[in-house]
Amino acid sequence: MKKILVTTGGGDCPGLNAVIRGISRAAKHYGDIEVWGSKEAFNGIMSTPPELVRLNKKATAGIHVRGGTIIGTTNKGNPLAYPKLQPDGSFVTIDRSKELLKKIKKGGFDAVINVGGDGSQKISQELYEKGLNIVGVPKTIDNDLSATDRTFGFATAVQIATDCFDKLVTTAESHHRVIIMEVMGRDAGWIGLHTAIAGGAEICLIPEIPYDIKKVVKKINKRYKKGRGFVNIVISEGAKAKDGEITGSAAADGDTHIKFGGVANVLRHQLEANGCKGQVRSTILGHIQRGGTPSAYDRILATSMGVKALELVREKKFGQMVSFKNDSITSVTLKEATEEYNVVKMDNYLLDVARKMGISFGD
Ligand code: F6P
Repeated sequence: MKKILVTTGGGDCPGLNAVIRGISRAAKHYGDIEVWGSKEAFNGIMSTPPELVRLNKKATAGIHVRGGTIIGTTNKGNPLAYPKLQPDGSFVTIDRSKELLKKIKKGGFDAVINVGGDGSQKISQELYEKGLNIVGVPKTIDNDLSATDRTFGFATAVQIATDCFDKLVTTAESHHRVIIMEVMGRDAGWIGLHTAIAGGAEICLIPEIPYDIKKVVKKINKRYKKGRGFVNIVISEGAKAKDGEITGSAAADGDTHIKFGGVANVLRHQLEANGCKGQVRSTILGHIQRGGTPSAYDRILATSMGVKALELVREKKFGQMVSFKNDSITSVTLKEATEEYNVVKMDNYLLDVARKMGISFGD
């Protein structure tokens, strides 16, 4: 093993730079592997000329404290379904995987470490099946990958959301308002659930538990009945009312994702239309949850995952994804890692804790 390529794909996440530094430093420790980064996931290596960055000690010094990724990322770089712009402005997808494998070989790379979420690891698995020596590192603030107990970035996102929530509590209390705070979490309500408990929300609405608007209003009005109430609500972007739709818009510009964002405003209108006693305001946190410096916990998790990825490459354990299980770093097959989402299950202890704290899920 002489030369490896690192890619970061999908949405960014606090801790990506700590992974890159972890890989680079571990390679330096062994002293026999050159580490390179491909700009914006696989787009860099597929470009002509290739856009690559040497990830040596100098290039990665001190980056573990920085948010984002020094090699860039994209949602528009799936080599198996690459978005190609048509003359009429629409996009078709083409398979560029053969070209990618050729370019990786031509670049002299013996293996690839792909840092990314569910979508990126599905790509890793397909490329592995096509013969690429590849190892995955899980990444997402949503914590929705099932084969790992935690993903780095999640703890930082929860802290950011909780800090924002605390600020919204004081203004809600002063004005006796209902304030809705929307957090990320397209399929899984982990950020919402953790923030609601950490902040002490009255109501928490998550994708796993479709809410009954009448019950939400009842809970709010009960608070107002007792005096000059105020209510703080946390809602995940992927939450929806019973018999309702998710709030999202179709993917555009060659992007692969439905765009979420705005369910807090939908909920505000629903509350107003259903007799909510308080004046309602809504705040959408959006990408602020993905930015800035990673927490100490996330730096440690991300660094450990980077080191483990390098070890897997050295041991030629390809087709594996690094995983954090039972307080230790291990690995699972990419196949296993991408089989199902890690959503909040109805027997999760935190749901019970939340309910005992008086938090309503609108069910
Ligand atoms: O997958 C992580 C996530 O943070 C989701 O919660 C959110 O819907 C999505 O990324 C938004 O990403 P982008 O705006 O980059 O497409």
